Amino acid sequence: MSELLRDLWYFAATSRELKRGAMFRREIMGEPVVLGRDANGAAFALRDICPHRAVPLSAGRVTETNGAQTVECPYHGWRFGTQDGICKQIPSLVDGQPYEASRIRVRRFPTHESNGVVLLFVASDPRAIEEPPPPPEFGLAELTQPKFVIERTFAANMDNAVVGLMDPAHVPYVHNQWWWRPPSTGKKLKQKRFIPRERGWAIERHQPASNSLAYKWLFGGDVTTEISFMLPGFRWEVVETPKARLFTLTFLTPENENSTRITQVTYWRDALLLDVLKPILIPAGREFLDQDGRMVDLQNTGLAYAPSMLWIDDIDVQAKWYLKLKREWVKSREEKRDFVNPIEPTTLKWMS
Ligand code: FES
Ligand SMILES: [Fe+2]
Repeated sequence: MSELLRDLWYFAATSRELKRGAMFRREIMGEPVVLGRDANGAAFALRDICPHRAVPLSAGRVTETNGAQTVECPYHGWRFGTQDGICKQIPSLVDGQPYEASRIRVRRFPTHESNGVVLLFVASDPRAIEEPPPPPEFGLAELTQPKFVIERTFAANMDNAVVGLMDPAHVPYVHNQWWWRPPSTGKKLKQKRFIPRERGWAIERHQPASNSLAYKWLFGGDVTTEISFMLPGFRWEVVETPKARLFTLTFLTPENENSTRITQVTYWRDALLLDVLKPILIPAGREFLDQDGRMVDLQNTGLAYAPSMLWIDDIDVQAKWYLKLKREWVKSREEKRDFVNPIEPTTLKWMS
């Protein structure tokens, strides 16, 4: 079974999903989480189980209690701070009843919001209250607003979802639509330089595959691209010319052991043609994810029999790296030491 990594940041929601004064429930890492935005505009994430009698807080409302932003449970009206999870009020108490509300706390997940995305930190200790380490840096810089977001839920555990996402050999078979990779394209030798990066690796900046029609149309000649991966499941791809920039950021988030949310956030600037093509790009992006999703479903019919799987060089090296990084992350936590990236710079070759 795939082990879920903790003490890391995960995707929670897009900024647009969090409306002021509203909240909703989402399963993340096997936990029900209520995600919302309080009246001050601050995003929040709490365990969506009232510590009193287990009713989902997401069914309640966002309200103010003595100057603090709180979530009110719909069952008996207990109120919990949106930013600290501490109980601020137990309405039924009368004088002389000794319960101290502030000693009751619902798990709070630290959040970080930037570039239209809200991340949440999942500590290994559910009672941890220390400040989390800084959130991951993707290099979005001036790309503050996503142009569009596509989301799917795959019936796959996190490991199979990540491995499927980074697998270069499936592209000519699964994504062979005429405008991207027509079957007539034929396969070419790919040779790419991989370098270690923070908690992951990157394919060094290079010219995109000459057999990708779409890039040629959209950007003309002088294009370079760079693809990066970071634990626990972040992948980003930058395509740029001296003038324009296209940035696709993909988040994989475990809902539970059998289900993984995939969220693809796309940004660009100074690419007029992309603005014009946006109504086509959105369904095209959805089709890409659906193609992967159908393959996941098909794979599940085989995985039901718990077969062993084969990893071959060089095409599955990235999958092996991912598992290696995971092991090192777990070990470094256990041994309370810094994470040491086990990946060495490597050139990988394959036909695709
Ligand atoms: S169940 Fe939440 S206040 Fe009672
Ligand atoms: Fe794919």
